[in-house]
Amino acid sequence: MELLLVVILIFTILFIATALVSLALRVPYVPTKKRVMQEIIKHAQLKKGQTFFDLGCGDGRMLIEAERRKHVQAIGYEIAPLVYIFALIRKAISRSKATIKFKNFFHENLENADVIFCYLMPAELQKLAKKIKKECKKGTCIISNTFHIKGLKPTKVIPKNEKTKIPTLYFYKI
Ligand SMILES: C[S@@+](CC[C@H](N)C(=O)[O-])C[C@H]1O[C@@H](n2cnc3c(N)ncnc32)[C@H](O)[C@@H]1O
Repeated sequence: MELLLVVILIFTILFIATALVSLALRVPYVPTKKRVMQEIIKHAQLKKGQTFFDLGCGDGRMLIEAERRKHVQAIGYEIAPLVYIFALIRKAISRSKATIKFKNFFHENLENADVIFCYLMPAELQKLAKKIKKECKKGTCIISNTFHIKGLKPTKVIPKNEKTKIPTLYFYKI
């Protein structure tokens, strides 16, 4: 009984912390759907051994899918505590080698990334554009789910498909 109460208390604290982080960042946890991930991987031209970043990786699904399908070295950053725990569970279940860090990606260097995926809100993306321009090496590919990254010029845009419910996908090259 006491153990159950401790578990409920820990879960409640993590839930509140996650809600507060999401509110502060104004980026809620909304996972990318399976068919959207497949569309992204189809267009991303990922190559074996490349370093693939998901900035705000949620439960790690995009990292795990990219690693499984394209054998990339997948690295994700997630700052919401409960969501990060979901990512660790998903990683363990899928026996993935992806690296999932409990960190704010704005404090991390992006120079090692070959491909960066993000599903973030426009204001955060605009701030990210400056960091990308400063740190990413030439040739780095950036993919944004749903929102254009103001400050970068897309090389390819896959328009929203009402029928398949695939949102607009933006591709950039540094
Ligand atoms: C819309 S969800 C997308 C999750 C995942 N990328 C996907 O496509 O399924 C955005 C995630 O980014 C996380 N996030 C937002 N800003 C962050 C930051 N500065 N550092 C780390 N994680 C961040 C949020 O906590 C949230 O889980």
